[in-house]
Order: sequence, then C-alpha cells, then structure tokens
Amino acid sequence: MNSHVPVMVNEVLTALQPCDTVEVFLDMTLGLAGHSIQVLKTCKNAKIIGFDQDCYARTIAEKNLSPYKGRFEIVADNFRNVEKLADRENWNGASIVFFDLGVSNIQLTNAERGFSFQNDGPLSMKMNEEDSSNSSLSAEEILNTWSIRDLTRIFKIYGEDPHSYRIAKGIVRYRENGGVLKTTGELVELLRNILPAPVQRKMGGHPARKIFQALRIAVNDEINALDEALDGALKVLAPEGKIIVISYHSLEDRMVKHRFKKWEEEYLGILDPRRILKPTKDEIEVNNKSRSAKMRVFKRITEEGGVLNVLQRMPT
Ligand SMILES: C[S@@+](CC[C@H](N)C(=O)[O-])C[C@H]1O[C@@H](n2cnc3c(N)ncnc32)[C@H](O)[C@@H]1O
Repeated sequence: MNSHVPVMVNEVLTALQPCDTVEVFLDMTLGLAGHSIQVLKTCKNAKIIGFDQDCYARTIAEKNLSPYKGRFEIVADNFRNVEKLADRENWNGASIVFFDLGVSNIQLTNAERGFSFQNDGPLSMKMNEEDSSNSSLSAEEILNTWSIRDLTRIFKIYGEDPHSYRIAKGIVRYRENGGVLKTTGELVELLRNILPAPVQRKMGGHPARKIFQALRIAVNDEINALDEALDGALKVLAPEGKIIVISYHSLEDRMVKHRFKKWEEEYLGILDPRRILKPTKDEIEVNNKSRSAKMRVFKRITEEGGVLNVLQRMPT
C-alpha cells in the first residue's frame, strides 16, 4: 500500500464523536485516503465522498479504499467546485466536510512532479496535470515570464520569505542574461547563487523551501480555491454538521480562523472546540511533517437560539 502518514488522526476522530451519527463524510483532500480509511474503520455508518484533483492520488486512493467497496465515491475535481457538484449529484447534507490541505508525500517524493527541492525534476508543481486550460500555470512559466514585482509578491505572501525581492531580482537578472529555468535542480542552484552563504546559514532550513512552497501555492491557486471551498462547505453541510480543517500555512489558517469567527458572529454555528488544535509531541516525533499542522473545527447549528445558548455555556 502506498502510504502517506495521516496527520492528527486522533483529533479528527474525536471531532467526529458520536461516530455513529456520521453518514456522509466529504473528504475534500482525499490524497491516499489515509484519513478516510480511519473514518470508515471507526464510523460504521459513514460513506466517503472524496475529492482530489490529482489523478495519481485518486488511483492510489481507489486501491487503498478497495476493501470498503460500496462505502466510497471518488470525485475527480477541484474542491472549490463542491457546491456545484453537490447540487448536480443531489448529495444530502454532509455530516462532515474535511480538509487536510497541501500536498501528499507521494506528490512530494515523485521528482517528475517538481514539488520537491530535494529531487531534480521538471518545474511543473501542478496538482492537476490533466488540466490543459489556459489558466493552468506551471512553476516554469511563472519563473521564466513573471515580473520582479509579481515574483516578489508571491514569494512574500505565499512563501513568507524575507529575501523575496532579492530572489525575484536574481531570477529576472538570470533571465536577462539568457538563462531559462527548466528543472528544480536549476532553481535550487540559482537560489544558492543568489543568496550569500551567511544568509543561507542563518535561514535555519533549506534556502529553497519557502520559494518552492510559494510557487506551488501560486501554480495551484490554492488560497482562492480554499476561499471558495469554505463557503461551499458551509452550504453542503447538514444541520449539526462539522467542517474540520487541517492547515500547514499561516495564510490558510488565518483564512479559516476568520471565516469560522465570522460565521459564529452571524449565528451560523460555533467553534467546537473553541481553541486551535495542534499535533502532540509524540506525533511530531514519529511524523515530523505534522509539526506545522493546525486544526480548527466549526459546528453548524441552524437554529439561532441554539447557537446563543451553546455560546453562553462555553468558556471563552
Ligand atoms: C495532504 S494531502 C491529503 C492526504 C490525505 N488526508 C491522506 O491522509 O492520505 C492533500 C491532497 O489534497 C489534494 N488537493 C489539494 N488541493 C486540492 C483542491 N483544491 N481540490 C482537490 N484536491 C486538492 C492534493 O492533490 C493532495 O492529494
């Protein structure tokens, strides 16, 4: 079985209690079905509807889910389209809408996908490689055509890299001297040339990590997709249903936090629990990739008085 160690599984299963009431579990980021399999094992009435825009992930998920025939459906689409699809497919309200954002291990470790600064491969970074529409960008196109201003913007906002301008300028200068970036290896080498050695030493991680993250987020339009999907998630949720989001980037977490807060102020539901959840030390020790995970849960409560009563009873 191809594996990706699912993050914060215990916390996700706790949020599903009482498990018997979980019927439709909308897994917006099916990946290799790591979370979905645990849900199927634990919640005997659960049926998974799993989205993934990556055809490789879907193929592996289908294989991993094969012992649960009849209890899952895989959707080949971007989760930003959830509301449209729910209308078309006549899905009843979802008990749970679950997001585990970002990329899976399988995407990261396959050099051909271009997600990793550790393996040399083409500068693709597309999660949906089947999408040949005009809006489908690759990291190669961004790096070889965007202006210093636009490169700086994504490196700063999506990568939170303090050296964004210096790097953007270095990339454009490389192009002006006839350079064309084709592979992840070439990008890593260029970044090493742009950043002085003492700066690289101070960075505390790989000097290309933040730039790769920024490019991936831009290529896949991840922030806008999440923005649209959160509103869609609320619309497809059953009364008393929950939205669970695990994010790994402060920009995503901030968006989730503000949206949940806004919904609470509009009496659409409550944060449940009220605090943010993080992986335990034990989990981080076993799975270092979980270290930046943050989980938030929103519970829909349809009747206005219900929300007010629950809020009054909860500690702030
Ligand atoms: C972190 S992985 C999920 C791993 C999964 N929870 C597991 O345990 O196997 C995220 C997955 O979501 C998919 N994904 C990310 N953004 C998406 C989007 N906007 N629409 C559909 N799938 C998306 C990626 O292709 C990837 O396979």
